[in-house]
Amino acid sequence: MRDYTAEKYKELVEEIDDEKLQAYMQAEQEFIAATPNAKQKTFVDLGAGHGRVEPVLSSVAGNVVAIEINPDMFRGLQANAAALPNVEAVQGDILELPKLLSERQVVNPVFLILQNSLGTIEGDYREVLRAVSDQAKERQGEFILSFLRQQALKGWGEQMYGKLEDMVGKVDEEATDFEAGEFRTNTGYTSKWWRDSDIIEVLNIVDGTVAAESQTDYFRLLRINY
Ligand SMILES: C[S@@+](CC[C@H](N)C(=O)[O-])C[C@H]1O[C@@H](n2cnc3c(N)ncnc32)[C@H](O)[C@@H]1O
Repeated sequence: MRDYTAEKYKELVEEIDDEKLQAYMQAEQEFIAATPNAKQKTFVDLGAGHGRVEPVLSSVAGNVVAIEINPDMFRGLQANAAALPNVEAVQGDILELPKLLSERQVVNPVFLILQNSLGTIEGDYREVLRAVSDQAKERQGEFILSFLRQQALKGWGEQMYGKLEDMVGKVDEEATDFEAGEFRTNTGYTSKWWRDSDIIEVLNIVDGTVAAESQTDYFRLLRINY
């Protein structure tokens, strides 16, 4: 499991002094807020971390189920969820989604994988995509996916990770494959940044209809309908 803690994540990522990463986080929030009829929907935040986005989800959604696997992140998520009336924090693995959801009230679900979490996911990302899209299909829901793009890893990505060194280690220039978008550090941290061809493969796996899209040269946001 990755060396994330709620405190470090908040300090190093959420509060980062980096215009582009801040603009990306802002764009995600606007994309979420543009969900049609959001008050009639359950937002299922997958890999919710310490709950960075939960205040926004809480204000736009009917209710929120926030799922997180890492015990250190989960503690922060629980504390943040406790202050929000319609957010439930759930410790668990996205791959166990059918079981986790069967125990809860889920209406017109909007599944979310934010902040390039698919690129650092615990488990095989293709399996995760299948697990989520199966549930989205069965429940006629939506799926919001958020990617960092391979073309921005060299240059901005490297610089940005330099600011996260306390959490991820130092970039390993030799082991990093910029062409493939595979970032690696000296502590073994890895993150995938996505080529357009990778995103086409993702779309084939999730097998829904792209209903909305927002992109810049360094991120891409997609809303998939079922
Ligand atoms: C890059 S962080 C992003 C956190 C949050 N979504 C945000 O935008 O601030 C990814 C999070 O996903 C969690 N995660 C990774 N794989 C998971 C899995 N299989 N099931 C549940 N959570 C997972 C990690 O522990 C981590 O907290």
